[in-house]
Amino acid sequence: MNHAAPPSDSVLWAKADRHLLRYGGDFVRYVPARAEGAFLYDTAGKKVLDFTSGQMSAILGHSHPEIVAVVREQVAKLDHLFSGMISEPVVALAEALAALVPDLPKVMLLSTGGEANEAAIRLAKLVTGKWEIVGFAQSWHGMTGGAAAATYKAGRRGIGPLIPGSYAIPAPNAYRPRFPGISWQQELDDSFDLLDRQCTGNLAAFIAEPILSSGGVIDLPVGYLRALRQKCTERGMLLILDEAQTGIGRTGLMFAFERDGVVPDILTLSKTLGVGLPLAAVMTSDAISAEADARDYLFLTTHVNDPLPAAVGVKVLEIVQRDRLAERAASLGARLAAGLRGLQQRHACVGDVRGRGLLLGLEFDAANGRSAAEISDAVTDTALDLGLSANIVRGAVSGATMRIAPPLTVNEAEIDLGVELLDAAIRRVMQ
Ligand SMILES: Cc1ncc(COP(=O)(O)O)c(C=O)c1O
Repeated sequence: MNHAAPPSDSVLWAKADRHLLRYGGDFVRYVPARAEGAFLYDTAGKKVLDFTSGQMSAILGHSHPEIVAVVREQVAKLDHLFSGMISEPVVALAEALAALVPDLPKVMLLSTGGEANEAAIRLAKLVTGKWEIVGFAQSWHGMTGGAAAATYKAGRRGIGPLIPGSYAIPAPNAYRPRFPGISWQQELDDSFDLLDRQCTGNLAAFIAEPILSSGGVIDLPVGYLRALRQKCTERGMLLILDEAQTGIGRTGLMFAFERDGVVPDILTLSKTLGVGLPLAAVMTSDAISAEADARDYLFLTTHVNDPLPAAVGVKVLEIVQRDRLAERAASLGARLAAGLRGLQQRHACVGDVRGRGLLLGLEFDAANGRSAAEISDAVTDTALDLGLSANIVRGAVSGATMRIAPPLTVNEAEIDLGVELLDAAIRRVMQ
């Protein structure tokens, strides 16, 4: 085969600047040419430790050999079908997911997180006969209509009306409480009191991430989900949990909701389920599924229940369970958290370390006359120079939080290397 030589960086960037539409700020000035395990490599051979698992998805690391084999095999055997047809991998994945959440045995497979939430919101509206949807003010559920209307972290400006009947309540924030001294239970009670006054009696569902990742890695305190579930039940609302980032072992359990012993009415999975390939799932109960059938639920898409991504999902669940990756996330997460707490002790600009398993947040504080935003930007850039990719999420309430979420297949040495690189980056920035 005749491979054209890769363009030099400056040629590539000139073409990128000329032809790529921006969709979320600047592009990262590092261009991976290949990735393997927890590392990215550019054409010059620069190696970067991927502490964001791509877009918080690649829990098996990059190009896991068994995933590569399944993709090759399945694309050659049965790739894509008429949307009304089913196939063996689709049934196998639905069965495997149902075995993990026996209360939610009805499964639909889609491509993206936004799409799964769109389908979940549509399902909740149809079966309740109501249309008002509530989310957290720091949420991210996706860019499609209904998902975007329930996303309050960003993206609400300049696009005309969103969906009427969309409401937000603040997520509890232990590090930077909105009302210091007020318990999360009181804050939740007040929020629902306000909600009851604003809504028109048509509350269909609450949609929540168990850990608000893009919102600043805000972990809902133990007991919160149960209290939220109770608020929903009292109002005849469904609870939709979006485990795009927290599902499939990431937090040390297969699903984050297991910690709280609360099963949602509808569960959406995406990112981690396909380990970087476009696969999402909506899961619900027999009762909701029966009501949806009775009311002619429609969510027909080109890639619904496609065999290729489904075969990937089957293999992902097999590997995660076989290799006990949820337990691994718990133990390696403890090692990573200890390392990050060491940084907190050494550096005044590290204000808080939080999260669960291998989904951790490191929040920067202002220090030495520099703002948290300024410090976090400089640390991220310096870390990348040194060979570590991590990203910062900003919020009105949460200052500047670095999200740290390496693949679950990462090893101890890679965890320690990540902490060392971050330490060096902070040291260099704060000198
Ligand atoms: C919790 C959560 N839900 C949904 C989405 C949207 O997923 P997608 O970008 O695949 O549509 C994201 C993406 O960042 C997310 O973090």
